[in-house]
Amino acid sequence: MNRREFLQLSTLSVVAMALPRWSLAQVEGANPYHYRLTAEPAVAELVPGYQTEVLAFNGEIPAPVIRARQGMPVRIEFTNKLDEPTTIHWHGLRIPIEMDGVPLLSQKPIMPGETFVYEFTPPDAGTFWYHPHMNSTQQLGRGLVGAIIVDEAKPVDFDIDEVLILKHWYLDKQGQWKTLTRPRYAARMGTPGEWGTANGVNNPLLSYPAGSRVRLRIANVDNTMTYDLHMKGVEAQVIAIDGNAIQEYYPLEQHKIGPGMRLDLGFIMPEEGAEFTLEFLRGRFGFPLASFKSGAKDPGVKNNGQLPQLPLNPIPVPDLAKAETVSFVFEWEGAISPTDAAGNIHPTFWLINRRAWEGMSPGNIPEPVADLKLGKTYIFDLRNNTQYHHPIHLHGHTFLVLEMDGKPVTPFHTDTILLGKNGRAKGAFVADNPGSWMYHCHVIEHMKTGLMGYVRVS
Ligand code: C2O
Ligand code: CU
Ligand code: CU
Repeated sequence: MNRREFLQLSTLSVVAMALPRWSLAQVEGANPYHYRLTAEPAVAELVPGYQTEVLAFNGEIPAPVIRARQGMPVRIEFTNKLDEPTTIHWHGLRIPIEMDGVPLLSQKPIMPGETFVYEFTPPDAGTFWYHPHMNSTQQLGRGLVGAIIVDEAKPVDFDIDEVLILKHWYLDKQGQWKTLTRPRYAARMGTPGEWGTANGVNNPLLSYPAGSRVRLRIANVDNTMTYDLHMKGVEAQVIAIDGNAIQEYYPLEQHKIGPGMRLDLGFIMPEEGAEFTLEFLRGRFGFPLASFKSGAKDPGVKNNGQLPQLPLNPIPVPDLAKAETVSFVFEWEGAISPTDAAGNIHPTFWLINRRAWEGMSPGNIPEPVADLKLGKTYIFDLRNNTQYHHPIHLHGHTFLVLEMDGKPVTPFHTDTILLGKNGRAKGAFVADNPGSWMYHCHVIEHMKTGLMGYVRVS
């Protein structure tokens, strides 16, 4: 049976439902994880009945899901079909610096028409995502955001494996673009989009057979929004945070994911006809993100009533006894100037340790915010001295969060720590990956107006 026959056959069974319908097609050949990816202008119907000009991976919204496997090499031939330079970053993956996709720090910008081959072996399994690391307000905001799923080295037995990409688009009711950034919002929580979508659709209805064990991989790929997630009508377990499986599942009450963050939920579809909703909370109100409905029982579903346990990722264990603590203070400054020769405003609003880095350009690479010794454990002590939250993201490494807001927490792994207003956190990690690694707020406008730096591991 060839691959196509297999796919056709398996669409009839539950097995096929385990893969999202929009996985990126593999290139025929010896490596089963060989893909071709483009970034290009395209047209999409986001607001029903209206066409929107977007930027899209392989011309598709939602972007194709890239499937990789833990410990197996993946090869992605990326071609830039935009009319401006770009790079692709693999958010959350602990891979070599040459593949990290940050212009100037780790690679040359990929010029229009050029192809760059990304090749790496993901050490960790889980829900990750990919996006450009250039002109991010526009390139991410207009659609270049997608999921890369790293399957466990040894397959985990869920009946349904679904990806849910959350994004609010800057669109009016006719699907026309509104301003993606405004200084008065950039200086506060960031500019929010108006048209909420999950997988490119406003409040989609997803239906799976009664009794199936669902793994729902939620990724917040928005420029600005933090979603306070809540599941109404079914008991869902938190099974992985920001791509990393947790040891002891616990029921989801509320869980905030800031831009760049992920959450994997596990739940069992109730009896046929049952409906429930994934929503995000704002104060006392819930707003639907996606709705679910149980379909007829499928004989293929095992229904043992148990969620399978996810294996933990092989993240190096920090040596806390020998750790060195490095402090970071995130603050606000209200500079609308300097103004350039053309009279344009380049505002800087946000500081890491009293310094703003408002953009990457050759000749504008400052010193790192920290110089770290290869192999040593560090504790990053993060302090947010502002009224707005900041999802603080580090490339190439994974934090073990020890404390939030001065209180010890059950340690969990993440690449992005969400600091609430005036919040604090302590995250430990082993600096085991040599290179210059971006360290920034993932509210894109915060990053673009100063809240960005890098650490050097050598
Ligand atoms: Cu999502 Cu610098 O990354
Ligand atoms: Cu990243
Ligand atoms: Cu921020």
